[in-house]
Amino acid sequence: MCGIVGYVGSKQATPVLINGLKKLEYRGYDSAGVAVLSESSDEILVRKSKGAIKFLEEKIADEVIKGSVGIGHTRWATHGEPSDLNSHPHTNVSGTIAVVHNGIIENYAKLKAWLQDQGVVFKSQTDTEVIAHLINYFYEKTGEIFKAVLETLHRLEGSYALGVVCTKYPDRLIAARKESPLIVGLGKGENFIASDVPPVLEYTRDVYYLNQNELAVLYNDHVDLFDSEGNKIVREPSHVDWDLSSAEKGGYAHFMLKEIHEQSKAFTDTLRPRLVFDGETPSDIQFDEIEFGEDWKTAGRIVITACGTAYHAGVVGKYAFEKFARIPVAVDVASEFRYRNPILNQNDIFIVISQSGETADTLAALRLAKQAGAKVIAITNCVGSTVSREADEVIYTWAGPEIAVASTKAYTTQLMCLYLLALKLGKERHTLSESEYKKLLSEIALIPEKTKEITENQSEIQKFASRQFNKSKIFYIGRQFDSASSLESALKLKEVSYMHCEAFAAGELKHGPIALVDSDTLVVAIATEPALYEKLASNIVEVKSRGAVTMAITIDKTGAFNNCCDEVISIPDIEPSLASMLSIIPAQLFAYYCSILRGNDPDKPRNLAKSVTVE
Ligand code: M6R
Repeated sequence: MCGIVGYVGSKQATPVLINGLKKLEYRGYDSAGVAVLSESSDEILVRKSKGAIKFLEEKIADEVIKGSVGIGHTRWATHGEPSDLNSHPHTNVSGTIAVVHNGIIENYAKLKAWLQDQGVVFKSQTDTEVIAHLINYFYEKTGEIFKAVLETLHRLEGSYALGVVCTKYPDRLIAARKESPLIVGLGKGENFIASDVPPVLEYTRDVYYLNQNELAVLYNDHVDLFDSEGNKIVREPSHVDWDLSSAEKGGYAHFMLKEIHEQSKAFTDTLRPRLVFDGETPSDIQFDEIEFGEDWKTAGRIVITACGTAYHAGVVGKYAFEKFARIPVAVDVASEFRYRNPILNQNDIFIVISQSGETADTLAALRLAKQAGAKVIAITNCVGSTVSREADEVIYTWAGPEIAVASTKAYTTQLMCLYLLALKLGKERHTLSESEYKKLLSEIALIPEKTKEITENQSEIQKFASRQFNKSKIFYIGRQFDSASSLESALKLKEVSYMHCEAFAAGELKHGPIALVDSDTLVVAIATEPALYEKLASNIVEVKSRGAVTMAITIDKTGAFNNCCDEVISIPDIEPSLASMLSIIPAQLFAYYCSILRGNDPDKPRNLAKSVTVE
């Protein structure tokens, strides 16, 4: 998600910035821009363009932008479609302050309204533009750019990595970070900022990794670090001793592993802007992006349509809507839905789910639903995608760009959006009491932290994979929510390990699939519904007695599966009906490690494409 670079030195800044932005392309982006303090005039030269960095290069090919202090940005759209206007850098009204930003300003709507009341006219739809205007506001009050930035930061809620330049201070660049990453590269007679290490590696290996709420002021000959109150900090820089190719994956061996580990942050980014707090306690869910009006409250049915992993999210969604909001849900794969002459009613809510927002079958289903007069809500990870443009209303998953073909963090953030919708609907339709609703909100707020616990303790799964990666058959089983999670667990394993893997509702085993079970079979039971533990344990015993190796992924802490399973992967305790967001993570890791052990490239599985834009 978004890339930032910045330069202060004696070279011409523009080529350094463009070169740096290219090193951040792997993060995904839809537009690019630079802002350079002009050497010959008292102005900031801002150049930006929608699309690939090469379009920005073409735009500036015939001009010489002279200046050796500047900032650059690759944007991955969040607020406002990808366009020249919404691209960064953004400036104050007089163009004397320019800002690049990575992150989401959660209170931007409030700040924007306040600035508009002060007479500020906005040029873009972005959350970032409020930062430029706020800095200007405080600069006019304090007459000091650093103080103005500090005052601004104190008023921002959400996440940010920032680079700021100002015509009145042509010798420096100010940087700050909260949640979103930012590093400072320490060169000789030149210094840099960047979202990640690769852009600075050709100039220096000495860096400061900015900590939460820290600021840096960069000059060509030194860098000062500050805490959030503006007090100077002194510390030793870190030395980077790894190479470019591993750096782009943030030190992870593969994007898939990196993205599995990013799920805690992706959950936070998707959840936090929609949770309303009463003090420290979550008290409500608010979707600013959709009308949660009468049509939701009086809807007769929800119809969910999607493909692949997104369809599996829809299956979990069905359980969630039916449990919390007591509304019937039909969930269908888009490629079937579109050719079935489906029956849609005026009071159906139609939800399409698509990470890319470009899947051909999902788009066709969306168009069909619109023709039938249904209200279409899209859940997607890509701002400006066709699905987002054609749906009536859009809920974004803030997972950040997903590079690995096998979806991980996009899936879990889809689940988060579906759960939030289901809980909100339960509240509005009075199928959840106020106290049940609040209890569930408190539990859902714990998901990011509990996710981290799982990804930080993956060695058990890695070891188990090293013993099982040669099995010829693998079955995932579960009941209720867990049968839905089994579908996605099995798909993940198939996609990246190429092992034959199927998912069954546990109760279905004895109706046929059990004929396949022998000593070369691994059966993984997902077990997060205490009321059904006994039934599930019986199913596990049935396959174990036919020679299968068995494993459980469970929130149980009482040892309910110790006797029937060869391996028990324990995940953090959570309200069972929300556990689907956690139980999938060990399965993703298991798929990843099996893929590696079998000598595959988990990021680029054979025969698969990230975005399936054909039928
Ligand atoms: O972009 P979409 O979410 O619409 O894509 C749908 C499927 O093609 C996708 O989920 C596919 O199953 C992935 N390879 C899953 O890892």
